Amino acid sequence: MGRLEGKTAIITGAARGIGRAFAARYAEEGARVAIADINIEAAEKAAAEIGRDTIAVHLDVTDQASIDEAVRETEERLGGIDILINNAALFDLAPIVEITRESYERLFSINVAGTLFTMQAVARSMIAHGRGGRIINMASQAGRRGEPLVAIYCATKAAVISLTQSAGLDLIKHRINVNAIAPGVVDGEHWDGVDALFAKYENRPLGEKKRLAGEAVPYGRMGRPEDLTGMAVFLASEEAEYIVAQTYNVDGGNWMN
Ligand SMILES: NC(=O)c1ccc[n+]([C@@H]2O[C@H](COP(=O)([O-])OP(=O)(O)OC[C@H]3O[C@@H](n4cnc5c(N)ncnc54)[C@H](O)[C@@H]3O)[C@@H](O)[C@H]2O)c1
Repeated sequence: MGRLEGKTAIITGAARGIGRAFAARYAEEGARVAIADINIEAAEKAAAEIGRDTIAVHLDVTDQASIDEAVRETEERLGGIDILINNAALFDLAPIVEITRESYERLFSINVAGTLFTMQAVARSMIAHGRGGRIINMASQAGRRGEPLVAIYCATKAAVISLTQSAGLDLIKHRINVNAIAPGVVDGEHWDGVDALFAKYENRPLGEKKRLAGEAVPYGRMGRPEDLTGMAVFLASEEAEYIVAQTYNVDGGNWMN
């Protein structure tokens, strides 16, 4: 029997990358999973490939009506939500003197407001159902410290860690446990984009930053999306009942705090 048998989960930004790996692992563990993504075609393809009780739901985390509708649709098709993973996020990179307001507003609206208001909508629903729940926010090692070219993204992920603490303390009275995962460097399309931005701003050949980032990990390689799934299952399981408002590094030893 799976560790999440009978649970309903909604995972934002799960059409690809880490979120997709979460969806596949949760389905293996017996959960009914909604892949909630702005890219509905990719979400539908992922849901069809994963199979079992996995569905695709359109979601733009920057749009309140879209958040409310995604929660409603998930509950209608899969039943009351037990687990939310707030995984959708965007990355950008620029030196401080070149940062634009547009980039700042776009990243904060997806990574911070998107996380907060999706958490709020799902928490309201969990409270109405009265059987508690689990919320897992995706932070990053970038939220643990600044980086010269990564000011906005780092600030958004620091905000996710802070929101996890406040929401965790507020919602535990409803038996909703809010925690976060802070990955290090995880290979995939996201990091291909990161690599291309570093190539531009640090005048490097494509692929070099990624190679160096992987070599710098104490474990000896970049993370893979599957390296994150164990923690996501654990935090959603009964064994994590007494864990509240924490952020866990899952990063091959990249960061200690
Ligand atoms: N990959 C890494 O190295 C790394 C490191 C640390 C933290 N993280 C965090 O882990 C999470 C997943 O990362 P990833 O590498 O899989 O990212 P990714 O870029 O591969 O996937 C992000 C997903 O979010 C979706 N999305 C974008 N905007 C959206 C919106 N407005 N509404 C709904 N969905 C939207 C995209 O369509 C995509 O499917 C993110 O929160 C990221 O910040 C990643």
